Amino acid sequence: MEDFKNTPVKDLISKNPKISGILNDFGIGCVSCALGSCLFKDIVGIHDLQADKEAELLYSMETILHPDRKIEKPDFSKIPKREKEAGGPKYSPPIKMLADEHVKIKKLLALIPGILKDLDIKKDKDMKLIAQSLNFITNYADKFHHAKEEDILFDYADKNMPVTSVMLKDHALGRSYVKGAREALKKKDNGKLMENLLAYKDLLDGHIDKEDLVLYPWIDRQLSTAQVGELYSKFASANKNADQKILNECLGFINGLKIGRGTQPHAPVHINAQVGAPHEAPSGNVIKNINQYRMEKNNGF
Ligand SMILES: [Fe+2]
Ligand SMILES: [Fe+2]
Repeated sequence: MEDFKNTPVKDLISKNPKISGILNDFGIGCVSCALGSCLFKDIVGIHDLQADKEAELLYSMETILHPDRKIEKPDFSKIPKREKEAGGPKYSPPIKMLADEHVKIKKLLALIPGILKDLDIKKDKDMKLIAQSLNFITNYADKFHHAKEEDILFDYADKNMPVTSVMLKDHALGRSYVKGAREALKKKDNGKLMENLLAYKDLLDGHIDKEDLVLYPWIDRQLSTAQVGELYSKFASANKNADQKILNECLGFINGLKIGRGTQPHAPVHINAQVGAPHEAPSGNVIKNINQYRMEKNNGF
């Protein structure tokens, strides 16, 4: 049983393609993963399966890999389940800060098809909207958000694990699409611009899902309570050191953006308290939240 646990998933799948179907049945999307070089035991840990589901997965793997062996089927219903949090993963305060930034990035991603519909970058209005969208992607999604992941968060994870290196590859690929979109904008090439922005949207939609549902909860499970506070203060100082003028422009742009072609790219930018909140220094409330998180974590939420 130990052998396959220490084997890269990709190798297992190439030896027996049925394994990809089993993994998909358990919601483990390694088949579509860019690398697929995680060890089997790591993907089980990363995806945080319930104990009964993990036992069922191991049983399925054994029966597929060793059809000649007689393996007794356990009664999975007798394996106690952990209570999972309702309404998605519960993040620590610093990880929640990143997940909240995803909400803003996802807003633009959702609007990209509408922005591209009937786009004519020879028109000043359309050209300005695209330029603002690309500035948001570069300055907020990449230089503000991805930089915190790459320079701070990933130091708290095993950088040799494919789950982390896949994220870095996604960031690099995203930058190449943005470069392509900027070049297309300069040449006023509608087709190339759309191609690059749609590829960026597809990539980032999947990337953010992987982070929200797999990477962030996985890192959170490994953080000690001291590291939670440390990570929060590192994020807070990165936010404080960011260029506030550019950051506020990005936030003003995304908050003013409305669904459909009726977007309001030229609306005046009002920076309200809510907009400014993510890059303020830790307040009393935040410290209270970290303490609350520590108590809940110690109680095994
Ligand atoms: Fe990322
Ligand atoms: Fe992210």
